[in-house]
Amino acid sequence: MSLREMLLSLNMIMFGGKGGVGKTTCASSAAIWAAEHGRNTLIISTDPAHSLGDSLGIELPAGEATPVPGVKNLTALEIDPKADFSEYKGLTTINPLEGSDMPDLMGGMPLMEDIQEMATMSPPGIDEAFALLKVLEFIETEHDYDLVIFDTAPTGHTLRFLSLPETLSGWIGKLLKMRLKLGSLMGLMKSLFTSTERKKDNSLEVLERLKESIVKARDDLTDPTKNSFVVVMIPEEMAISETGRLLNELYKYNIPVSNVVVNNLYQDVDDLCDFCISRRKMQHRNLEKIKETFEQGFKKNIIEVPLFREEVREYEKLKEFGNYLIT
Ligand SMILES: Nc1ncnc2c1ncn2[C@@H]1O[C@H](COP(=O)(O)OP(=O)(O)OP(=O)(O)O)[C@@H](O)[C@H]1O
Ligand SMILES: [Mg+2]
Repeated sequence: MSLREMLLSLNMIMFGGKGGVGKTTCASSAAIWAAEHGRNTLIISTDPAHSLGDSLGIELPAGEATPVPGVKNLTALEIDPKADFSEYKGLTTINPLEGSDMPDLMGGMPLMEDIQEMATMSPPGIDEAFALLKVLEFIETEHDYDLVIFDTAPTGHTLRFLSLPETLSGWIGKLLKMRLKLGSLMGLMKSLFTSTERKKDNSLEVLERLKESIVKARDDLTDPTKNSFVVVMIPEEMAISETGRLLNELYKYNIPVSNVVVNNLYQDVDDLCDFCISRRKMQHRNLEKIKETFEQGFKKNIIEVPLFREEVREYEKLKEFGNYLIT
């Protein structure tokens, strides 16, 4: 599916890739285009080092969805990197003994090793999961957007939380087992020690709820009629291998990808200096390789975007950028 068709029909589009390649510029430009084609659009930056406001040329208070002045149907949001995930708090330091009066009495027992292992476990991707779930909750409960565009952080880890449900299942199983073991121990100990009032430990419920939300998010993110990931890259050798790795990772998680944007291409103009001619040659070589690898190999549409004379920021320039991005 072309990016144009996607912008007109999908509910979510994510832009990702290496640092500085033009993800935010592509996301902003695409969001303006979609909004002006009648879709009620939300653009969200999930990168803690935000630059979405700078790209659009507006002030975006952290965590506040803000209508973009001068563009009908467009709202922008930079998620607050210091957001409060208190509903999930305690999860990253889970301890099945919490609330009981036993830990000191049981030091040195073999069971303690299991418990200590779990207490220090923090599964990879849990922060990304919290952040994304917050966003999805926001989209679902408060608003009625046709399209949500994600400007993601320049790491390959944006989506690693998608494998969390399996990790969490492992945790839940372990936790249950420990509860059983502890249950019988507790009974034994109770006759020997007086216990204080036990706090309610709801870590199991929290884990189950988190798992369910991620499974649901995963259903949406892997559905090609709802979501697509657009990979942005530049025509350089290093970017080719990194893009290959990103595509493999997305494939592993079943995230649909049909478009790869090759940004910053030197144009064939008359006034190129020696330096630019040399860069253009290098880019041309790499573009051929990109087409071979990603167009023929991975069967992706390649979108070629030229290097502009100036920085691509704010409405007019982003619109012009869109003429190349969305064809
Ligand atoms: N085709 C282009 N021609 C000229 N300048 C460009 C082009 N594409 C992007 N830029 C400029 O390059 C800079 C980096 O772009 P952008 O912020 O979109 O990259 P990014 O991938 O989002 O970076 P980060 O990884 O830091 O989030 C910006 O100043 C942007 O205006
Ligand atoms: Mg960016």
